[in-house]
Amino acid sequence: MNVYDSERMADALMPSGYMPTDAVEDADMVILNTCHIREKAAEKVYSDLGRLRGLKKRASEEQNRDMLIAVAGCVAQAEGAEITRRAPWVDMVVGPQTYHRLPELVAKIDPEARTRLVDTEFPAEVKFDFLPEEQAPRGPAAFLSVQEGCDKFCSFCVVPYTRGAEFSRPAQQIIAEAKRLAASGSKEITLLGQNVNAWHGEAEDGKSWGLGRLIREMADIEGIERLRYTTSHPLDMDDDLMTAHRDVPALMPYLHLPVQAGSDRILAAMNRRHTADDYLKIIDRLRELVPHIALSGDFIVGFPGETDRDFADTIKLVDTVKYASAYSFKYSARPGTPASSDDAQIDEQVKSERLSALQQLLDAQQLAFNRNCADTKMVVLMEKQAGRDGQLSGRSPFMQSVYVDAPIDEIGKMKQVIITDTRQNSLSGEFV
Ligand code: 5AD
Ligand code: SF4
Repeated sequence: MNVYDSERMADALMPSGYMPTDAVEDADMVILNTCHIREKAAEKVYSDLGRLRGLKKRASEEQNRDMLIAVAGCVAQAEGAEITRRAPWVDMVVGPQTYHRLPELVAKIDPEARTRLVDTEFPAEVKFDFLPEEQAPRGPAAFLSVQEGCDKFCSFCVVPYTRGAEFSRPAQQIIAEAKRLAASGSKEITLLGQNVNAWHGEAEDGKSWGLGRLIREMADIEGIERLRYTTSHPLDMDDDLMTAHRDVPALMPYLHLPVQAGSDRILAAMNRRHTADDYLKIIDRLRELVPHIALSGDFIVGFPGETDRDFADTIKLVDTVKYASAYSFKYSARPGTPASSDDAQIDEQVKSERLSALQQLLDAQQLAFNRNCADTKMVVLMEKQAGRDGQLSGRSPFMQSVYVDAPIDEIGKMKQVIITDTRQNSLSGEFV
């Protein structure tokens, strides 16, 4: 979602004359779009800001120009003016719900007077109604935010506080954005939301739509060949969405469905409001509908009070599901969340041991999934030049990165690829 938001910030600023650049030292403005989900991500902001301080000073001393520095995203939302206090060279702090106001903020900055602006409101206006249309094409695979915020309040998570209450964009606005993306050459769209499958809206016919209905509608847009959505919560996995995986060829056979833990005791303490068995039932149903579906998840180890037995339940669940890929994290206490004040915090050493045991299993499952793709044919959307000269990379239907030796003009095309080599994190192949 931060990638999407960053693109939208660029859209907002381009009418004022700004252009995106890869050369940070040449920039007239640098926006750090930040993440607050775990402590490590949040800490990185201050080390990055330290480096930017040097660049800003050089721009001023050697080139006599000002480099504006803005902090956006969830750290901005959570820390507000604390950022300009700790890093007084920051000019602007702007939250995820107010970045459409960036042009106004930039216009208000007076470098001589060293004004610093903080805008972390949760305004009544909705930013999507104020952002200009996309100012530049998004490439073969594009993101589209359909839903933001979260009302679930998992006890470890800052998202409900930094992103605010659940909000669904209107179906017509989403479809219009998807049509523009398709018209500018995007073939794949990933629908985004902190709780994407909680998306709901009222269509023009007055009927209430869920994400499954929206996906069926979007699949009919001319030029859209692939759809994905992320991230989902098990409680919102309704049957219409699950059957869309069977009925809609454009909906890719891949689902990222976080479970976080395998112990019902820990799931309850996490306020997930589902059991391990509820989750496994969803997986069974999905596999009944689409036997080859690739599954991915998120896991937290070392949640307060997690015993060896609880952790063994996580291992057992992973063993049962057999993931194609997964993300796993050590529990990180986040300010203001209920779990952070729990007395039963787990020792860092224990967290590290559990994380490496879990990752060993998940890595083995991912490798097995990838190995299974050897010698098969799959359609890959070629997305970009890869590291090595003459090589392109794209994504398989199952979200694997696939490398192929091919000329640049194949970027943006859907190609039949035969898989010739499989690795832990990627595949290689040749055009059929
Ligand atoms: N500590 C560790 N991991 C977390 N996540 C969210 N909050 C925390 C936390 N406090 C993980 C969850 C979520 C993913 C986006 O980040 O697994 O699904
Ligand atoms: Fe955080 Fe996801 Fe839980 Fe919402 S559903 S509180 S975003 S982990």
